[in-house]
Amino acid sequence: MKAVIPAAGLGTRLLPMTKNMPKEMLPVVDKPAIQYVVEEAISSGINDIVIITGRGKEVIENHFDIAYELERILEERNDLEKLKEIKRIAELADIYYIRQKKALGLGHAIYVARKYVGNETFAVLLGDDIIFAKEPCIKQLLNIYKKFNTSIIAVQKVDKSLVSRYGIIDGEEIEKGIYKIKNLVEKPDIEEAPTNIAIMGRYIFTPTLFECIEKTPPGKNNEIQLTDALNILLKKEDIYAYEFEGKRYDIGDKFDWLRINIEIALQREEFREKMLKLMNELIR
Ligand code: G1P
Repeated sequence: MKAVIPAAGLGTRLLPMTKNMPKEMLPVVDKPAIQYVVEEAISSGINDIVIITGRGKEVIENHFDIAYELERILEERNDLEKLKEIKRIAELADIYYIRQKKALGLGHAIYVARKYVGNETFAVLLGDDIIFAKEPCIKQLLNIYKKFNTSIIAVQKVDKSLVSRYGIIDGEEIEKGIYKIKNLVEKPDIEEAPTNIAIMGRYIFTPTLFECIEKTPPGKNNEIQLTDALNILLKKEDIYAYEFEGKRYDIGDKFDWLRINIEIALQREEFREKMLKLMNELIR
């Protein structure tokens, strides 16, 4: 299966950090955010990846490419551990890049991958959503896909006050944590949200989605919304939502970005004691 990773967003919520730096390249402890997403696809058995980029996103390509000069310097210094890690990143997967020339929305960003994907079911992992789970989130969706053979969307329940940040689904729970979707709304106001079940940036789609995006007029924020295209898809095929196990962070949000750095640092042996000591001191 192929994976599409949209990473063309402007990152305006993170300004000024993202004035000249793609949000997907922001560090999470010691790796750029998008590397976690690429590694999730790979550890789920997906090695054929296309990243949708735009102007100013070239550093993403450089990150996953061979860095000859750096490799030579690390070799000269005999810094083999760093050399191994730098080489590993360049060998992770077959990664292709397609540019979305205009920021016309998430639906459109996925649409530009249609020729690369062809007539096959494919995975989508949003480049600014990081999910930590025992079993990678996209793997969990693939397991559900095997059972239903149709499009599957990752969801989690959120506090009712947060529904306007997400695509929200309405559906019937047919098994524990599995919903047959009836309707989807992109970023509704609290009063209009049918549920608090929010879409979380991991999807498995049948290729029928592409013809639905073609028919999708601009929606919320005047962008071609994936959620609107899914309502069109729903008229042709069933779509299921799966409440996955795992913790999700939105790198596009300043506080979430700070939070993930602290939480991940606390999980790393090399930082844990120092971090706890620092936090205790600060609280005191
Ligand atoms: C996008 C989708 C939204 C989804 C969210 C998850 O919104 O449009 O449906 O809930 O990702 O991160 P964005 O965060 O790109 O505005």
